[in-house]
Amino acid sequence: MSLSDPRAPVWKKLSLHRDPPLLELFADDPQRVEKLSTRVELDEGGILFDWSKTHLTDLYLDEFEELAEASQFDEMRRKLFAGEVVNPTEGRAAEHSALRGVGKDSSVEEAEALRARMQLLVEAIHEGALGEVKHLIHIGIGGSALGPALAVDALSRDLSLVDVHVVSNIDGVALEAAFAACDPATTMIAVASKTFTTIETMTNAQSALKWLAQNGVSDPSGRVVALTAAPEKAVEWGVDETRILPFSESVGGRYSLWSSIGFPIAVAIGWEDFELMLQGAATMDAHFRDTEGRDNVCLRAAFADQLYTRLRGCETRAVFCYDERLGLLPDYLQQLEMESNGKRVTAEGEPVDFPTAPITWGGVGTDAQHAVFQLLHQGTHLVPVDFIASIAPGDELDPAHHQILLTNCFAQGAALMAGGNMSADGKDPARAFPGDRPSATILCDDLDSETLGALIAFHEHRTFANAVLMGINAFDQFGVELGKKMAKDIEGGEASFDASTEALLKAAGLSE
Ligand code: F6P
Repeated sequence: MSLSDPRAPVWKKLSLHRDPPLLELFADDPQRVEKLSTRVELDEGGILFDWSKTHLTDLYLDEFEELAEASQFDEMRRKLFAGEVVNPTEGRAAEHSALRGVGKDSSVEEAEALRARMQLLVEAIHEGALGEVKHLIHIGIGGSALGPALAVDALSRDLSLVDVHVVSNIDGVALEAAFAACDPATTMIAVASKTFTTIETMTNAQSALKWLAQNGVSDPSGRVVALTAAPEKAVEWGVDETRILPFSESVGGRYSLWSSIGFPIAVAIGWEDFELMLQGAATMDAHFRDTEGRDNVCLRAAFADQLYTRLRGCETRAVFCYDERLGLLPDYLQQLEMESNGKRVTAEGEPVDFPTAPITWGGVGTDAQHAVFQLLHQGTHLVPVDFIASIAPGDELDPAHHQILLTNCFAQGAALMAGGNMSADGKDPARAFPGDRPSATILCDDLDSETLGALIAFHEHRTFANAVLMGINAFDQFGVELGKKMAKDIEGGEASFDASTEALLKAAGLSE
């Protein structure tokens, strides 16, 4: 970071702190939980964001607020919601919040019109106006799949109006699994691609059409719905205009589940619940837009992220959902956070000399406790952890299930912080727990559509806030391009590669 960067002196100050142990922070400040826990109220219920088991202190918060000021956080946030350019390398705005009704008026209006069109189609399917639809195979990849897969899995377990399968991988095994679970006579295909050119998606879509045709469907393309920001490409590909659901170019792929990319979610859970999901996200938008400094839960989370990644050198951050329905959240967050902030130059193109996005990973509790938590408690890596749980159970079995689930969630956070020694004499180093390991807890009243929307929007804004504090562009993703180009070159058969790659191609029979 150049010395002329207004952030430099603040980082210098921040780096001089020596963190007291977490337990000491609690002992020294009886208001700690109150200061670092904030409840965001939703229309029904709410979410508690408890960052008290992190090393954030009043002093840190003061200085991180200074850092936000030096990073022109307020101005960047204003630009985000005003629909101004926040993605300078591509000259684009990032208008996912407009899809939830929070943003530039004209973008919100456009999004509403497009949503009304989507609603008609979703309701027509539910009313049977398009014939019997029992299954939907949603084909897309990256941002065109991860959000829909997460939301469908989280919200449609009890009552799925239509059986939805999300297929992303080009590996035909994935598509075959969906075929095996669907009756071609009652299956619709959604082709989801912002660009409508992604090779995996277009290849899978062709194979799905073939499958329908081979199984007696007379008009396979009549069963296709296209979800895209490139409607002209979908027309070219053969989709009827009435079944093309467009969305705006200014919505990034990994921020697109709120747009027509969310079609399978609405098909699975119903229109009302889809709108509730948007409403939950809009509540978080308003919180992020209108709340200053440390009281803003997204910004506060980003302060802690910066503390651990930049000041403590943590290379990863983990998310454990003590809720089976959120099993796909870590996958979703991996793209959101790593594709957004896994950068090595600033928004102005200067090389950065500090770590940017940590590696996001995670899983579900309590499963993960019996697999990877050993390293969290006793390994040599310091891993800041987020725990996510719901007070209301997602099951109707004996309440003991949910009680044990929640108890374990809270116990893990407490144990990571407290540490101790499990041996009889308290001296066995193999049984020693260093403790002072940080975690944050996100506790939802219930995991319904509105809450999921708010939870996802919280992570979107946290990611943006991190990018602003680091001075990087969260909205481009050129890092995915080189590998794609090389795959094309290999297919074209013209380019030559390194000796190892050439040998692999030969071994697999892909070259002579
Ligand atoms: O290759 C990465 C990426 O461009 C993601 O950013 C995007 O979500 C995904 O591919 C799919 O792109 P599309 O929606 O255009 O098919």
